[in-house]
Amino acid sequence: MKKYQSALNHNIFRVITQAAEELQLESYVIGGFVRDHILKRGAPKDIDIVAIGSGIALAKKVAEILPHQPKVQVFKNYGTAMLKAFDMEIEFVGARKESYQKDSRKPIVENGSLEDDQNRRDFTINALALSLNEKNFSELLDPFNGIKHLEAKLIKTPLDPDVTYSDDPLRMLRAIRFATQLDFKIEKESLDAITRNKKRIKIISKERITTELHKIMLANRPSKGFALLHKTGLLAIIMPELTALEGIDEIEGQKHKDNFWHTLEVVDNISENTDNLWLRWAALLHDIGKAPTKKFHKKIGWTFHGHEFVGAKMVFKLFKRLRLPLNDKMKYVQKLVLMSSRPIAIVDNDVTDSAVRRLIFDAGDDIEDLMTLCEADITTKNPKRYARYHKNFKVVRKKMKEVEERDKVRKFQPPVSGEEIMQTFNIKPSREIGIIKDTIKEAILEGDIPNEHKAARELMLKKGKELGLMAN
Ligand code: CTP
Repeated sequence: MKKYQSALNHNIFRVITQAAEELQLESYVIGGFVRDHILKRGAPKDIDIVAIGSGIALAKKVAEILPHQPKVQVFKNYGTAMLKAFDMEIEFVGARKESYQKDSRKPIVENGSLEDDQNRRDFTINALALSLNEKNFSELLDPFNGIKHLEAKLIKTPLDPDVTYSDDPLRMLRAIRFATQLDFKIEKESLDAITRNKKRIKIISKERITTELHKIMLANRPSKGFALLHKTGLLAIIMPELTALEGIDEIEGQKHKDNFWHTLEVVDNISENTDNLWLRWAALLHDIGKAPTKKFHKKIGWTFHGHEFVGAKMVFKLFKRLRLPLNDKMKYVQKLVLMSSRPIAIVDNDVTDSAVRRLIFDAGDDIEDLMTLCEADITTKNPKRYARYHKNFKVVRKKMKEVEERDKVRKFQPPVSGEEIMQTFNIKPSREIGIIKDTIKEAILEGDIPNEHKAARELMLKKGKELGLMAN
């Protein structure tokens, strides 16, 4: 069997070997660490160790030997332990044979051999193990052809896929996530089994589901994952709002585009320009309001009036259901969905200074992200139109720069404060103050006055007079 000495240069492995020899048990490094080393996927954060015997005892022994004697976190119920060393999390588990009950992820566990342990893992490429035993240090143990499947870029389960997925339904999402991250193919039997077992995803917690969704979203080409989620029927369970966008309706020869496949293209496009997870989520959700707002009108064809507003409201519901954070991240996604048609609307008309100023004012610091989203939204296959839209967005960006340099509305601070208005007219807090402030803001956004104190003060005095106020 082949040896992978270079994978185990780190001192931690020598320490584990020493600890295991002292306890007279065998140990192996297994799973993602081995897979990613072979795929040359960069420095690992986590290491998974299997002991043939007690993983907890091995963890404790390793902690004793390590100079900083780290704390060992023990998860008694699972028979596992974790410690932190050299900026990595190292998990220890005793090799086991497992079987699961039908309605729970809680396994019934028995001690087992290394091969039993490899057998119960999710995929052959995650079941690769390297020996940490002195007698055969760094030797690869690969009873299920994991190496072959890595080379063939194939996701395959060690056991009958119905058993593997039914044991732990999260693995259905993991299969799709790995296929997306690594650009692998899911073996046909596996894909069929996911389709058959899709309903079992319901027993998995939302947090674990979204962890996988985030990883799919952060891949180079997230559409691959969403297409697989769709194909297997998982997407309709997890995010029916998205699958509702699929399809093209035709009435009297008038069609609209398929907003589901369009959305996936937008997500891929934006992923070429940003690694911001929430901006990618905004791209995924920017059109979700289109399904409930779709209407056909004899004269103008298909419309989706107000879909941005409806979509922003749906973002809240979807985030809540999936237990995504209901904080500023959600508000950011909502804002981008709500504003997602604004830049294109400017382009469709004349790109006036005041329209650009209002756009910057409303988007504030998210203006760049909004533009990135709108550029990703251009998925037309007509090369002339494609070039025209991009050119127009360039015009908008140029104008944005000019307007912002001059008027500074991105972080808008009223040039005349409420305090100044109260002092000038000798009034207490009242409606009039709001009216005057709004008048000034509108005049600046319209370009009637510059964003400066002197001009704003003059307008304040004028408006005050109109309102019957007396200046001091
Ligand atoms: N595993 C499994 N079934 C799961 C989760 C994990 O069989 N539902 C096994 C796999 O062998 C996996 C190992 O546990 O390689 C470690 O799991 P985890 O750290 O979640 O994944 P990695 O494979 O390390 O990959 P990543 O860090 O990208 O999540």
